[in-house]
Amino acid sequence: MNQFSLPSAACIGYGTIDAEHQDIIDFVNSNVRLLRQGPRRDIVGLFEPLRHLMAHHFRNEEQLMRDTGFPGLIGHRGQHEGLLLRIDDLWRLCAARGRVDLNDAVTCFDSVIDDILRADLPFKTFLHEQGILR
Ligand SMILES: [Fe+2]
Ligand SMILES: [Fe+2]
Repeated sequence: MNQFSLPSAACIGYGTIDAEHQDIIDFVNSNVRLLRQGPRRDIVGLFEPLRHLMAHHFRNEEQLMRDTGFPGLIGHRGQHEGLLLRIDDLWRLCAARGRVDLNDAVTCFDSVIDDILRADLPFKTFLHEQGILR
């Protein structure tokens, strides 16, 4: 069973955003499944692809925001940067400890997913207000 899923209200319905969110969620779920079996010592193997998926998604999303003239872009970009810094902090912490536990992962992933969803919804509202989405 998957730990996390996207509620339909979280679907943005524009460009590749939803597919990229789903890629991140899928990655999170497969790692939670692994971590349920015990702590993981291959820390780079977990954080590198996660960070890559997130950075790739943030770049694409910010490009869509730029292209559509979304006024919240600068604040949103700051939120993305903060999120990547938080991932890097947790990466460092797990590296120093020598393992990732299920608890770390769930806590981290929970806040990552929450942040992604919360931050992107104003963009969805904007797209509707502009008539770009109906
Ligand atoms: Fe997003
Ligand atoms: Fe975002």
